Amino acid sequence: MANFSERVFSGVQPTGNLHLGNYLGAILKFVELQETHDCIYCVVDLHAVTLPQKPEELKASIREVTAAFLACGIDANKHIIFNQSQVAEHAELAWVFNCIARIGWLNRMTQFKEKAGKDRENASVGLYAYPCLMAADILAYRATHVPVGEDQKQHLELTRDVAQKFNLDYAASIAALGFGEAFFPLPQPLIQGPATRVMSLRDGSKKMSKSDVSDYSRINLTDSADVIAQKIRKAKTDPAPLPSEIEGLKQRPEAENLVSIFAALNGQTKQDVLKDFGGGNFSTFKTALAELAVEKLSPIGAEMARFKADPAFIDGILVDGAARARALASKTMTCVKDILGFVR
Ligand code: TYM
Repeated sequence: MANFSERVFSGVQPTGNLHLGNYLGAILKFVELQETHDCIYCVVDLHAVTLPQKPEELKASIREVTAAFLACGIDANKHIIFNQSQVAEHAELAWVFNCIARIGWLNRMTQFKEKAGKDRENASVGLYAYPCLMAADILAYRATHVPVGEDQKQHLELTRDVAQKFNLDYAASIAALGFGEAFFPLPQPLIQGPATRVMSLRDGSKKMSKSDVSDYSRINLTDSADVIAQKIRKAKTDPAPLPSEIEGLKQRPEAENLVSIFAALNGQTKQDVLKDFGGGNFSTFKTALAELAVEKLSPIGAEMARFKADPAFIDGILVDGAARARALASKTMTCVKDILGFVR
């Protein structure tokens, strides 16, 4: 395998209600990785329109995700923050990948099945081809590491399959042009820590999600301190006290979820949390969790509000980020055109 220098890429959809799952599963990692890697963080608006969106709400959502990136501490000077639709190379490379990926691969994607529901014939072609666009997002920058939550694992596997098939199908051309054995790296998913799959606060068997009808199922990054505390107080639990060992969390999804959230917010392991709270009742634990969540999340909500009050500033960040992203992606696209044999 050729040697690729390490680069981080990840994306978040601008589809409303950024929540604790997005924060703990993804954005918190984005912030940490800035210290060790060159990072590119994208507001994936082309992905958002695979489902119907209202234009004004989409625009507000793109700015809101950007505000969240900034409020959480992503440095837009040292790293790149931009929205996908400003860099046409994403769509261009996605087309090439539509021609690399096999229909059988896409048919296995569980997220498509979930999102399309029963009426699959009526889903957009874009929703079906979504994983090829995601592969293009990552590979347009030849990124090597992709921080995501557990739910994106299958899409990352498909990205690796696309990269590998492209490298194999065009091996002779890649070698003849002097790129060595492989043009695209096989990007590694970074799915780490105690909260890679944050569950609903109302039902520990369901993922915390933007689209859940119950607002009490999730903590939004824009919730006030009072709302955060109230949602945690009302979170579903079971009657037993907290266990002292991890094994005791098995078959107790709501308890496991709250312990995972505490651990991730406090930079601890679940075992550490159980050392402090094992044997105690939920009301003591929930009080401590509510305090911790308010302490960590309220400043983010306040910063987001401050950024959102200045849309021109946010738009400037995106335009600047897009120019820097485009410079990188257009280089990749030029090479891809040469590899494929397009005249340019
Ligand atoms: P999206 O917008 O649904 O979610 C953004 C990130 O948040 C993570 N996440 C969660 N993590 C833990 N628990 C949860 N309950 C939870 N809900 C969401 C997601 O795993 C994700 O990391 N397809 C992607 C966006 C995307 C992308 C990319 C990601 C497009 N292109 C390229 C990485 C690289 C998505 O829909 O994420």
